[in-house]
Formats: sequence, C-alpha cells, structure tokens
Amino acid sequence: MPRIAVIPGDGIGLEVIREAVRVLEVVEARFAPGCELVHWDLGADRYLRDGITITDEEFASLADEHDAILLGALGDPRVPGNQHARDILLGLRFKLDLYVNYRPAVLFDPELSPLRDPGDIRLDVFRENTEGVYVNLGGTFKAGTRSEIAIQEDLNTWAGVERICRAAFEHAVARGRSRVTLVDKANAMPAAGKLWRRVFGEVAGEFPSIETDAMYVDAMAMDLVRRPSRYEVIVTGNLFGDILSDLAAELVGGLGTAASANLHPGRHALFEPVHGSAPDIAGQGLANPMGAIASVVLMLEYLGHDDAARAVDDALHAAVDSGVRTADMGGSANTEEVGTWIAARLSDASA
Ligand code: NAD
Ligand code: IPM
Ligand code: MN
Repeated sequence: MPRIAVIPGDGIGLEVIREAVRVLEVVEARFAPGCELVHWDLGADRYLRDGITITDEEFASLADEHDAILLGALGDPRVPGNQHARDILLGLRFKLDLYVNYRPAVLFDPELSPLRDPGDIRLDVFRENTEGVYVNLGGTFKAGTRSEIAIQEDLNTWAGVERICRAAFEHAVARGRSRVTLVDKANAMPAAGKLWRRVFGEVAGEFPSIETDAMYVDAMAMDLVRRPSRYEVIVTGNLFGDILSDLAAELVGGLGTAASANLHPGRHALFEPVHGSAPDIAGQGLANPMGAIASVVLMLEYLGHDDAARAVDDALHAAVDSGVRTADMGGSANTEEVGTWIAARLSDASA
C-alpha cells in the first residue's frame, strides 16, 4: 500500500497539485492501487508563520515512511532569497540523494510546438541532480562593497558522473533508444569536461549497442531548436540540465506541461512538474495543471501501476486533443476545468 507525501508548496504549486490529487482520486476508484495520500504543509506560508523550513524529523519521515513524494513548486516573493525553497527542494534532492533528474519531453502533436517543422521530438533529459554548482560550495568576501568577491564552485565527482551516465544508458536500453548524447562545456571548463568525457566513455563501453556523441551546451541549445528530433537521451550536469529541460519543455507544448522524476533508484523518488511557483499568475486559475498530472503518470509508472499510468496519460492527451487547454497553450480553460475534465474522462473510460 504505497504512501505518498503530497507537498503542494507555493504559488501555482497549490493549484496544480489540487488537480493532480483530483486525478489520483479517480485512479484510486478505478484501479485501486491503494495509495494513501499524506498532505504536508511545507512552503512559504509555514516558514513565514513559524520560521521553520523543514526539520530533520520531517526529512527522516519523508525518506523512511513514504514510498514517493509528489511536489508542486517552491518559491515565494515574500521570502527574499527563497531560503525555504533551497532547504526543502534542494534539501530533499541532496539528503535523499536523488541523483537522477529525469525530464522527458515528448511531442505528441506537432501543432503544440513553436517550431515550424518540429519532427518527431522524443527527448529524455538525464540531469545530474546532486552535484555541480548546486552544492553551494564557495562564498562571498567583502560582501556589499565594490570589492565583493563571489565564488561558486562546480563540484564533479567520478562516482557522481558514473552513476548518472549509467542511469542514462540503462534507460536507453530499457526504452529502446539508440543514442545517448553527453552535453558539457569541456572547451571552457576542461577539468569537469575531462572527467565527464572519460567516465561517459567508460560507461558507454559497457553498452555497445548504444551510439554516443558529445556536444557543447551552447551548440546543443542551438541544435535543440534547429533539429530536436535528432536527439534521444541527453545526459548532463545539474545546471545545464536545468536550462536544457526548460528549453526542451517549450519545444513540445510548454513549461506548464512538463513532468519530472527525481530518483535514487531503488530507494527514494520525488515527482514534480518542471515549472516553478509562477508568482506572476498564481491564484488566478491560469496555471496549466498538465505538468503536475504528467508527473502523476511518472509516479504511477514508478509504483508499478502501468495500466493506471497509461489511462491518465490517455486522458491527458484527450484533453489536449479536445482543446481543453489553459491560456499558455492557447486555450481558455482554467486550471480546475482542465483537471476536472481529465478526471471525468478517466472516470468515464471505466464506465
Ligand atoms: P516559473 O517556472 O515559475 O515561471 C516561468 C514562466 O512560465 C512564468 O511566466 C510563468 O507564468 C510560466 N509558467 C510556469 N508554469 C506554468 C504553468 N503551469 N502554467 C502556465 N504558465 C506557467 O519560473 P520563475 O518565474 O523563474 O520562478 C518562480 C519561482 O519558482 C522562483 O522562486 C523559482 O526559484 C521557483 N522555481 C521552483 C521550481 C520548483 O519548485 N521545482 C522550479 C522552477 C522555479
Ligand atoms: C528546477 C528549478 C530548481 C533548480 C530551482 C528552484 C532551484 O529550477 O527544479 O528546475 O534549479 O533545480
Ligand atoms: Mn528549472
């Protein structure tokens, strides 16, 4: 009986997770996976109320007493610097050692792409999720003066690179993909680049059926716009993966539709839409809940409920096909209308 921690978080996180939960309730009625949803009040409101972002006990409970975490988004303009978001979101990624950030971008209708001739886009981004510049090693010296020095180190370890490369190759084999592309900036950052290229090559040697290539991140950003269908599985560091996954999302329907899984395979899993808390549209019913609902699809797959995952995915696609879309996709439906439509479709399909 899977226990799922639901953390709506901040801003539109609350709105999109409400719809994801609505869909999960229908999944329960139709497929009976026995999911127990445990609602967690973590985010800016709680931090502003009692000064606590997340406690060690809460981390321990999320790690040990739950099978998966479903998260909305964290980030609130009332918290300058967003300390709570770093503590909670990056805290979970680091403390649960969720080293795989899997961000698929699949175009299921060419009309959804801003590109004139998008081709068949099926990109799986494997973003390293526990190292890179995100470790916040470094510091500030002479802060606030005109002599201020800011150092932000880029940390890359053999073990960290090895495990994300392996995850990408294993995924390629499991999903019948033919090529894995390494993305880095080895020309300007040769220390990190040398490590990534050596380890990528070593791991690739164990997967002779998978083709490989390597691209600099600037050229990759360009080529993803020029000919995205050329790429299949991309493996890259934390920062480049963050940037390229927003770009990939926009190529196939928009940031509001993109889902992600943060995984330590065999141990912990956190699912969340790729987008943030979008303070510019929060509280207005404008948020697209499809990224959150697509994250439910990834979660159901992870929990081994493939039939339920397929059914939710089908209902999601049916909403897009039927024009039940929020404004970011050119539609006029609000957040709740999209969620309610998808839930009803899912429920009707069982009748
Ligand atoms: P954002 O993803 O919140 O928004 C970027 C743009 O996309 C905005 O114009 C927004 O309105 C739009 N958008 C995003 N999601 C949408 C949706 N579901 N439907 C319709 N439009 C959508 O990025 P940002 O503005 O750079 O960040 C806002 C806050 O969110 C910041 O505090 C940031 O740190 C945080 N953030 C959190 C996460 C996360 O929790 N995983 C991810 C990204 C950003
Ligand atoms: C994401 C977000 C986070 C990241 C921020 C909020 C720290 O942009 O999940 O993509 O950079 O990883
Ligand atoms: Mn991001």
